[in-house]
Amino acid sequence: MEIVVLSGAGLSAESGLKTFRDNGGLWEEYDVYQVATPEAWHANPELVTRFYNQRRKQLFESEPNLAHRLIAKLEAYHSVQVVTQNIDDFHERAGSTRVLHLHGELKKLRSTVDDTLVYEAGHWEVKMGDVCARGSQLRPHIVWFGESVPQMPVAEKMVREADFLLIVGTSLSVYPAAGLAYLARPEANIVLIDPAEVTHDLGEVRHIREKAGAGMQCVYEELSAL
Ligand code: APR
Repeated sequence: MEIVVLSGAGLSAESGLKTFRDNGGLWEEYDVYQVATPEAWHANPELVTRFYNQRRKQLFESEPNLAHRLIAKLEAYHSVQVVTQNIDDFHERAGSTRVLHLHGELKKLRSTVDDTLVYEAGHWEVKMGDVCARGSQLRPHIVWFGESVPQMPVAEKMVREADFLLIVGTSLSVYPAAGLAYLARPEANIVLIDPAEVTHDLGEVRHIREKAGAGMQCVYEELSAL
């Protein structure tokens, strides 16, 4: 069976990373327009760099959780493609081999003059003055609000071909990524894991109202028995 997992910040909540829109979420603490837009970068690159340094430091100090590990273990039974909005590397560290990052990767940095110059961040801290091979300041390898999402066509094709769409820990409020949830074939099974109430009309969806770990345990037991 072809499974596509569409994941969001809620999947990494049990690893200790904050989500964006829950109570106490990151966008309550920070103004998204001051830290996660191209305008923010032009106005105050130090602030943006500091914001992502904090996120990266926490990522280096955190571990994938049970839900990430169970998603990876599903590869023993099915063809599993992860499409994630998350910028952490927990899917990879848990063992998933096919991971598409829609919104970029926190542990990567890129040139501000040449998009093809992308580097692994060896440690959490980036300083002003850290430059690419062509001498320009390194920026986070993140898709900011107002920027295009280059991986969308690839992700759309994956979802359209899926037999099973597993949506975990996303409020489905940020487009174009959220639109993926509506692209599954009518005959595909859609399961959504989220402890909160869900109001989107995705058609026939099974909502498992649990945190990612408990929800994934339930889904893993079912899918590994098929
Ligand atoms: N397990 C599963 N889901 C959870 C958990 C948990 N332990 N805790 C919270 N959630 C759910 C919330 O109920 C909510 O529906 O996770 C979802 C998190 O939603 P958002 O904070 O909006 O995160 P996400 O959907 O990933 O955001 C999309 O917005 O600003 C950005 O670029 C950023 O990729 C991100 C995008």
